Amino acid sequence: MELVKIREVVEKAIENYLYEKEPPMLYDAVKYLPYAGGKRLRPIIACLSCEAVGGEFIKAIPFGVSLEIIHTFTLIHDDIMDKDEERRGMPSVHKKFGENIAILAGDTLFAKAFEIASYTKDVNIAKKILRYLAIMSKEICEGQEMDMRFEKMEYVEEIDFLKMIEKKTAKMFEYGAMGGAIIGGGNEEEQNSLREYGKNLGMAFQIWDDCLDVIGKNIGKPVGSDIRKGKKTLIYLYAYKNSEDKEWLKNYGNEKAEEDEIQNIIKFFEEIGAIEYAKNKALEYSEKAMNFLNEIEDSNAKEELLKMAEFAVKREK
Ligand code: IPE
Ligand code: IPE
Ligand code: MG
Ligand code: MG
Ligand code: MG
Repeated sequence: MELVKIREVVEKAIENYLYEKEPPMLYDAVKYLPYAGGKRLRPIIACLSCEAVGGEFIKAIPFGVSLEIIHTFTLIHDDIMDKDEERRGMPSVHKKFGENIAILAGDTLFAKAFEIASYTKDVNIAKKILRYLAIMSKEICEGQEMDMRFEKMEYVEEIDFLKMIEKKTAKMFEYGAMGGAIIGGGNEEEQNSLREYGKNLGMAFQIWDDCLDVIGKNIGKPVGSDIRKGKKTLIYLYAYKNSEDKEWLKNYGNEKAEEDEIQNIIKFFEEIGAIEYAKNKALEYSEKAMNFLNEIEDSNAKEELLKMAEFAVKREK
């Protein structure tokens, strides 16, 4: 199915599944972010993976929407933890409704996601998918804990950084693509190929996102946030390893830093080649993702999945 059509069905399904209205204070906050747009990459990848192994994409809609809802839940809680006040070009949920309602809205979405996934028609598949969603959610929390713990550390090994982003971000793409393949009736090789495709795309996606945090314009969320929070991104790790003079560290992780101090760090990252390094790593993962599709029979859906892996490292927001 054409991508625009899949996106349309996803949008409609999100609306239908989030039917609750009472109490309005809660459900206004619950619906605020899902209705605020977003790229819908995770449900689209789940639907395309389903099609790529010969299934009808519509069967993957409850699962795909469930992923998108878990994603929005993580964004709400992530913005509280990262103290970011803008998301999808709007005030973040905690900024708009207050922290308590934002925590609750996140919890509600998390519960809703499992209700929605349970509407998957085949009972055996539904059971499998629900278990994967639970495991995935736990892994996202593990990744988020690492992300926050790393803020306080001066240096972490690249391998630990990769583990962290694999958990906090790539897992959702990994299970998304594999889950789509399971729902579409793919065999074990197809499930594994799509799983690896999703995981590598997810790694590329997060590394690219970290670049956008530094060089992006109008990305719908605050630029320079990672610098202010002291996030251990690949950009930071490269700069740390390759600079003798560590004067720039003074303002890395300083939430109160002036805008020009942030700009100085960005300029330094550019000069030392740290952004280039991260960009190349993202490209490598994207290529690796595409290569895993060699095992999948050619189809329109496969073409779209290839384009998705490219988009992950070309996007401007
Ligand atoms: C943002 O994800 C969170 C990260 C994993 C970097 P997206 O960039 O997919 O966010 P939306 O859904 O399009 O807003
Ligand atoms: C995204 O990490 C991972 C999750 C939300 C689980 P970030 O904190 O880098 O995402 P953004 O930049 O706020 O979207
Ligand atoms: Mg964040
Ligand atoms: Mg975060
Ligand atoms: Mg980020």
